Amino acid sequence: MTAPLEQPLTTRIGPRLLDLPAAVGLDTHLARFGPPPTDLGQLIAWVDSAGLRGRGGARFPTAIKLAAVARRRRAIVVVNATEGEPASIKDKALLHQAPHLVLDGAAAAGAAVGAREIIVAVERSAVATMEAAVAAADERRMAGLERLAVRVVGTPSRYVAGEETALVHWLNGGEAKPTLVPPRPFERGVSGRPTLVDNVETLAHLALIARFGPQWYRRAGTAEDPGTTLVTVTGAVTHPGVYEVEGGSSLAAAIEGAGSAMDDLDAVLVGGHFGSWISATEARQLTLGAGSLGSAGAALGCGALVALPRGACGVAETARITRWMADQNAGQCGPCVHGLPAMAEQLTVMAHGGRAVDHARNELLGLLPEIEGRGACRHPDGVVRLVRSALRVFATEIAEHHHRGPCAPSGPWLPTPSIGGWR
Ligand SMILES: Cc1cc2nc3c(=O)[nH]c(=O)nc-3n(C[C@H](O)[C@H](O)[C@H](O)COP(=O)(O)O)c2cc1C
Ligand code: SF4
Repeated sequence: MTAPLEQPLTTRIGPRLLDLPAAVGLDTHLARFGPPPTDLGQLIAWVDSAGLRGRGGARFPTAIKLAAVARRRRAIVVVNATEGEPASIKDKALLHQAPHLVLDGAAAAGAAVGAREIIVAVERSAVATMEAAVAAADERRMAGLERLAVRVVGTPSRYVAGEETALVHWLNGGEAKPTLVPPRPFERGVSGRPTLVDNVETLAHLALIARFGPQWYRRAGTAEDPGTTLVTVTGAVTHPGVYEVEGGSSLAAAIEGAGSAMDDLDAVLVGGHFGSWISATEARQLTLGAGSLGSAGAALGCGALVALPRGACGVAETARITRWMADQNAGQCGPCVHGLPAMAEQLTVMAHGGRAVDHARNELLGLLPEIEGRGACRHPDGVVRLVRSALRVFATEIAEHHHRGPCAPSGPWLPTPSIGGWR
């Protein structure tokens, strides 16, 4: 069974982002990385030529967002450490282990966009991570290193609370639910000000680009997928945890590095609950690069990789996480509120097996186009993509369920943590 992510994990972050044990202090940080740069006039151009893309899920080019905020006045930087994805722990691990590197990145981004304040938004049950962030901010203030005001806040434990408009809405005193766009946060965000919302890991990479430049950054990875990226590897692996891998590394190497043989696996879930299933056979041919994963209809997203062993039931796992994702809807859009539970219901019928399977599969296929692209945020689209990938990868199992009934019980292999409120 998968290791619950609340427990300590093997954390092999490094060598780029950090290769030191937990929560390093300012002295150790400065000894390792040197002082933060003061001349940041070229930062946006550097981030652009480094090819840095956001690590919060969509992999949007970071320089474009920086430039959009820099054109406006009196901005705010929000460090998105909400990490609602249950199969991912890389943001919390990174902020806990390297809070100064993340704050360096936020400060550099803040200087580039003319910000006055940094808000570090951490999912509130991650108490140790919040404490590390608060201690680091205090240390920097006392050392006279931080020119911007830094505030650390604890966010609600909901999947969509990390969506940027939801986060901004919550920071403005509302519920952590997505809002209609425009305005996007870069136009009007926290307290009505232009707001740069960036993922924890994005800002750590940005801190290194600000210090060492784009050529250094591109020394790792490939032309299309430069630098390194953090992945959380869980499921049927002997060393679940956070790993730093080069852009364009092999998917199989990431799984095997965490202690699993691809021959023992049925499939890999790439991108977590918002991601796609890939069969173990296909996974052997793929890299973690955008082009390679894209050819299989997948994307690295938040970097969560879950190994599903042979004998486990991918249909039952998909039914369970679809139900959980349905419970995460923000109650605002009909196709999401009604469509996701309906999808979970049909998947549950398919997981139970028997003669109702074919009918349920057809019902499910009919639902997908009714839901996709119809929400105010991309939450339902992520679930539709997950379900489409399950129908493709587990097609044989679904046919067998129809004729032979359900698989033997196994797992659960994917976490479905309890849900908090909206405030
Ligand atoms: C349903 C949903 C949940 C999201 N959750 C997170 C999250 O937990 N952490 C995060 O950094 N981004 C999350 N995002 C993406 C954010 O909206 C935003 O794009 C991201 O924080 C931007 O940072 P980046 O450009 O550095 O990736 C989520 C998006 C969606 C649609
Ligand atoms: S699509 Fe779903 S999660 Fe997104 S705003 Fe609408 S109801 Fe909320």
